[in-house]
Formats: sequence, structure tokens, C-alpha cells
Amino acid sequence: LRVGVLASGRGSNLQSLLEQSLGGKIDAQVVLVASNKADAGALEKAREAGIPTRVIDHRGFASREDFDTAMVAALREAGVELVVLAGFMRLLSKVFLEAFPQRIMNIHPSLLPAFPGLNVQRQALEYGARFSGCTVHFVDGGLDTGPIIIQAVVPILEDDSEQSLAARILAEEHRIYPRAVQLFAEGRLRVEGRRVRIAPKAD
Ligand code: GRF
Repeated sequence: LRVGVLASGRGSNLQSLLEQSLGGKIDAQVVLVASNKADAGALEKAREAGIPTRVIDHRGFASREDFDTAMVAALREAGVELVVLAGFMRLLSKVFLEAFPQRIMNIHPSLLPAFPGLNVQRQALEYGARFSGCTVHFVDGGLDTGPIIIQAVVPILEDDSEQSLAARILAEEHRIYPRAVQLFAEGRLRVEGRRVRIAPKAD
């Protein structure tokens, strides 16, 4: 499976995906890492692994649609079959969604539908939740609203800070994102309305 990763930041989820992919643990090759930020750590991680990179700065485009058109062109050129958002801080327009229907995944550091949006580890703490976690989902037109593929749960501990909770969640992100990509690679994900059915493994 040819995977394109979009990232705006540090790139730890990209890193975990690259490790699984380059180690032959998943049937997916990252063929392109693209970012809207020239200084994203994710680009550095991609270069170290010898993966092609592209910087497409959204500020150079008049509209979201124009930016998305450029992103889609880069992904198509690379023959990308699945788009993996890993800390990509841009909302996708119809142009993007229609170019890759049910072929865009995102990871979010909360148990959706609780706490969509930003600073969600802090939100979970301040709310007083006892558990949080992370969610891999297909991307639709909303903010963190698409059909859920996998979730992982972590406890919120008495002495947690935003940082300690984020770290506990991140460890789970690194575990479940490659797993979701592998399920997709195996053709085992079927979207039925809001629900994603995971087919049993063929033998
Ligand atoms: C992760 O917490 C992810 O859930 C969120 O953005 C963060 C990206 O981290 N969407 P990294 O760039 O993969 O390290």
C-alpha cells in the first residue's frame, strides 16, 4: 500500500509508522511526506529515512481549495493510495475529500466524540474525566468527526499534568496508528454509515 503522510509538526506518529513500515511489520510504504511547514520535525525524520518530502506552504495560496489542489496533485504524482494525517493542522476542503474518498485517516488524542479540536489533553484533565485515549478515524468534512476505526484508552491519574497525560496517550497513538494502516492495507475496513466494520483476517 502506498501511503502519503501529511504532518505540520514534530512527527512522532510519522516516526512510528516509518519504523513499522521499514521494518516490514506492515504492508505499507510511506512514499511521500508533505508538510505545510518548512520547519516541521516530520520532514527531518522523513529525510533521515530517505523518504521523499514536499513542502507546500498554505500561505502561498489564495484559498483552501487552491492549497488542497496542490496537495492532491503532489499525492497523486507519488501514487498515494492512503493519506495519513499525522499532526496535520489544516482542515481539508471538499476538493481534498473527494480526491481520496474513504482514503484519508487522522489520529486525535482523545476518545472521540469527547474533546474534538485543540489542547484536548488539557480539556480532558480540566473536565475531570477518569479516562482518555486516542482515536484513529476516517476524515470527513467535520472537525474530528469521521467514522472511528480504532481507539485506545488510558487512565487519567491523580497527579497527571497535561504533559504526562499527553505522553501516556502518545504511546498508544504510536501503537494504534500503524495498526489501523495495516487493517486498511489488508482491505479489512468497511465503512457502513458511521460505523467501520473490521473484517476478520483472511487466512
Ligand atoms: C498527536 O498528538 C496527534 O494525535 C495529533 O497531533 C499530534 C501529532 O504529534 N493529531 P506528532 O507530530 O505525530 O508527534
